[in-house]
Formats: sequence, C-alpha cells, structure tokens
Amino acid sequence: MCGIVGFVGAEQAAPILLDGLRRLEYRGYDSAGIAVCGGGELQIKKSRGRLAILSELTHDGTDLSGTLGIGHTRWATHGAPNDVNAHPHLSRSGRIAVVHNGIIENYAELKEQLLNKGYTFRSETDTEVVAQLLDYYYDGCGDFFEAVTCLLNALEGAYALGIVCADYPDRLYAARKDAPLLLGYGEGASYLASDVTALIRYTRDIVYMDDGELAILSDRGVRIYDRQMRPIEKEHHHIDWEIDAAEKGGYAHFMLKEIMEQPRAVREATAARIQGGRVVLSDLTMTPEQIRAIGKIYIVACGSSYHVGMVGKYNLERMLRRTVEVCLASEFRYSDPIVGEGDLVIVISQSGETLDTMAALREAKKRGARILSIVNVVGSSIARESDDVLYTWAGPEIAVATTKAYSTQMAVLNLLGVYFGDIMGTVDYETYTDMVRGILALPEQMERVLEQGAAIHELAKRCAHHEDVFFIGRNLDYALSLEGSLKLKEISYIHSEAYASGELKHGTISLVEDGTLVIALATYGPLFDKAMSNVEEVQARGAQVLALTTGDRADAMAEQVDMVLSVPETEPMLLPQLGVVPLQMFAYYIALERGCDIDKPRNLAKSVTVE
Ligand code: AGP
Repeated sequence: MCGIVGFVGAEQAAPILLDGLRRLEYRGYDSAGIAVCGGGELQIKKSRGRLAILSELTHDGTDLSGTLGIGHTRWATHGAPNDVNAHPHLSRSGRIAVVHNGIIENYAELKEQLLNKGYTFRSETDTEVVAQLLDYYYDGCGDFFEAVTCLLNALEGAYALGIVCADYPDRLYAARKDAPLLLGYGEGASYLASDVTALIRYTRDIVYMDDGELAILSDRGVRIYDRQMRPIEKEHHHIDWEIDAAEKGGYAHFMLKEIMEQPRAVREATAARIQGGRVVLSDLTMTPEQIRAIGKIYIVACGSSYHVGMVGKYNLERMLRRTVEVCLASEFRYSDPIVGEGDLVIVISQSGETLDTMAALREAKKRGARILSIVNVVGSSIARESDDVLYTWAGPEIAVATTKAYSTQMAVLNLLGVYFGDIMGTVDYETYTDMVRGILALPEQMERVLEQGAAIHELAKRCAHHEDVFFIGRNLDYALSLEGSLKLKEISYIHSEAYASGELKHGTISLVEDGTLVIALATYGPLFDKAMSNVEEVQARGAQVLALTTGDRADAMAEQVDMVLSVPETEPMLLPQLGVVPLQMFAYYIALERGCDIDKPRNLAKSVTVE
C-alpha cells in the first residue's frame, strides 16, 4: 500500500526522500511524488509508474532544493493511477502539500462543502480534499496548528498524513488514525515513514505513532500530541536488525532470498523457545490457570496468514481436543461474532498493520476476548493492541509474496499448540517429544528441500505454459494447498484454485480435461491412499499430475504421476512446514519463466492498510 516518507534537517531533502521511497517500493505502488520546501516555496514533482521515472525527472532529486520535504508512493484507491492523482496534493493557495495513506470515508461530503465554498479540484482523490480543507481552516483562523486540529476533527476514515506548509518552512506535521506511521529521531534531523525500512539507513531511534496523535517534526526534534492535543512523551524503540536484511544480498529477487532464509528464520523463531526439550514461551503472560480456562478459540487473519491459521486449526484441534474456528478477518469483523470473555482470539499477521485484521482484533477485544497475536513486525499496531504477542523474528520481509513469515508463523503456532496442550493435559508425552524433536529438526530438513532448487526449476519450465492449475489435498495437505495455490497465482498470474480432494467430484472435476495441470499434495501419511485415489480420478480425465509427497513414498508416487517432488519425513503435523518450501520455489520459478515482476506483483501491496 501507499508509502510515506518525510525529512527535516540540515541536508538536502529530495535525495533522502527518494531513497526512503525506494526502500518502500516493496509495499506496492503505481505512482510516486515528492514535495520539498526551500526558499519559502513548495516544489512538487510526481509521476505515474516506477520511482525510477521520478528520479529521472528530478535528476535524482537535485532539481529540488530544500532541507524539508515529504514523499509518497501511491497505490490507487480513489481515481486512476496517473500523474494528477499522484501525491503530494497541493492546496489551492499552493502553500500546503499533503501525502496520505488510507481512505477518507467522508471525502465526498467534505468535497461537496468545499465546492460550495468555491474550491476547485484537480484530482479525483480523497487526499486533495484533505489539502483543500486544511487550506480552508488555515484561511479562517490563521493558525496552522489550530487548522490541523480542525482538519483531524473533520476527517472520518483511516489516515497516515504527512503535511508541509510553506509558511512554516522548518517543520513537518504528521497524524495517524488506523494507518501505520512512525517517527525517526536523528542528529539534527527528524524523519517520518510508514515503515521502518525507509529509515534504517538514517536512524534506529524510532517512535510508533498511535491513533489520534499528531506530531510536529523539526531539526530540533519531535513534539507529539494526544487526541486532546496535550503534549505527550512516548516510548522509543531501537531497531537492531542490519541494513543488509532489507537488501537483496546477491539474490535476483527478495522472494528467492527470503525463501532461502527460511531455515535460519525458523531456527530463530523456535530454538530459543525450546529449552531442555521443553517449550518455554516466556513472552506469554497467560498463566496456566488462564490457559486451562480458555473457552472458544478463534484464529483470525488474512491471506497467507489465514492459511497458516488453516494449518493451525488442524493441529490445535488435534493437540487441544477442542474446536478451533479459523476466520478471515474481513468476514469476522462484520459477522457479529459469538466471542466474549474467556475466549481466546489468535491473530496472525506478518506486517501487524493489516486493516481488516486490526479491525477484527478490536471487535473481539471489545467483546471481551483475550487477544494473542503472532506478528513479525515488532512494535506494529496489532502487536501493540494485543494482550500477548509472540513475535516470529523472521526479520524484514520485503517480497510481496510471503514466504519466511508464513513458515515462522506456522512454527510459532505449532509451539503454542504443544505448550497449551501440555498445560491442558491434552498432548501425550510421545506427541510432545515428537513435536519438539521435529520442530528442532526443521531447519536442517528445510535446507535439504532447498537443495532441490535446480530440479524444481526444471519442473517449472515444463509447467510454465499452463493457464489453469488445480491444487488438491486432504486435511493438512488441503490447508497447504491453499498457500501453494495463492503463491502461484499472485506472482505468476496463472489462474489457480485449491480444493479439498474430496470436494472435486462435487463440481470442480468438470473443469479437468486433457492436459489440465493438477498439483496433488500427498504428504500426509494417514491419507496417502485416499490421495492416490484422487490422483487416479483426475488422471482418468486427462490431467497432467505433479505430486508432492514424502521421500519414502516418492517412488510409489513416481510410478503413477508425471512429476514428483518430495520432502523429508517428519511428525505429520509438521509436514506443511516442509511442504510449503517446494511450492514456494515452484511458484517462484514459474513466475521467473513467465518474466513476471516477482517481488512486486501487479495490483498487490505488501501491507494492506485499506479495507
Ligand atoms: C501473501 O503472499 C500475501 N502477501 C498476503 O496474502 C498476506 O499474507 C496478507 O495480506 C496478510 O498480511 P499480514 O500477514 O501482513 O497481515
């Protein structure tokens, strides 16, 4: 989604803004722009398309002179992606520039009021309404702080705002409601960004803004105000990951780098949480009594995080012997959910900023449920609003298509299942030790799967021409098929669907014809024979089958199907942890063969901060 950067200090702002925007490119965008204040005037440059165009247009920023500015990468919501709709947006006086992430829900009404007062609009965006409304208030009261306060009172919806006024050439204004925004503290400089990757090169001293807050940034520091416009002090966070973590490090794509990082990431997420063969979740504040008293369990998330929840449902139900509901956050929030005191809602999110997931969390919290989140981005909104957080410690994930976040979320959820199951008395000694041993062995097993890269690339070459693919599987393989299918479609643009194998004959099998590619997941031993029957079923209709199974069954499978991939044997509940790796690689190489923009697939954003 849209990215925001802001800078005020002693150096020229434009190159810093462009650099920050470049580091936010991974979030997904369709146009970009910057506004710099110098010599008491605002200079604006913006353009549709990649940031490289804006860099060229401004000669790497050297055309814009000034030490204060704001920048933006836009992911279109209101109005087409073009030069006019790109941010920053100017007020009619040309003295105020605004960048915005989020959606102003009452923009049409506000626009109407401004049109009646004689304002005109150049763009179709909700953001231009913000700039003009601010102009209107400022014109009326002559005090910019008061005007910003009036503006924030008038806006409904979600926003992260960066604002510059040429009459105050030494300060930036920032405001947040339901969209991420953070402040960076430097030597004689202050920064603003929608995520930390934009700032890590300049400062590691960060403050996360909360809803309703306003900040004024200058080269002397930052002043922050709460909803009532009272000055407040906030906790500072030190970002300790290395800048290399957000660089490609010699890989062709971030996605490939992040796939390859999974053994290390899963090790980091799990090793410190297993001590002497016991799962120790010291970051969890729930007492054993509270754990034993848990009522209903919900898992709520979006996209791939939801797919982790699907695996979690099977595994937690097995380990806790109780029903676990897994819900799409966008559905949960509007479903009048039957959730309340004593219930546990497990919220899963890589970014910790997904708007639907955040809204679902708030809904559950309002109804009295306890919130335990599994989050990657430290200090993110979801983490901060949860009762308990288990961080996944995967490091920054830049590719839009998630890989290492998925794996670490699943690893943490499995640990949680073992931990709860032990306390609840529903996991026996053997399962406990098998799971712990299996989790500890995962990184090394994942490394072995990664060694199959060249072979998977060859299979991808054979399959890259297909335009329709079906993933099928049962039980945990079904949960895994959802992720395999999403991975393929989101980066290669191949139409792909995932089905529970048993459902095929209830409709979908009519789509299987000569040459249709079916990816049959058959890692789950107890249902291997059933999986084989489903393979025969689709083959009888002419399907070409690529199967994924475990090493010990690979030969039997190879006799039956066209192509086979395998993963090492492990405790059945951990199979999706291994199975996902070849599916990620398969999707990656297919997209590579098709010449797709792998790290930045069309229409997608890394952090979905609008509804
Ligand atoms: C998957 O590759 C996507 N990036 C997407 O489905 C993602 O998992 C979803 O948007 C949820 O994001 P979150 O984990 O940051 O909440």
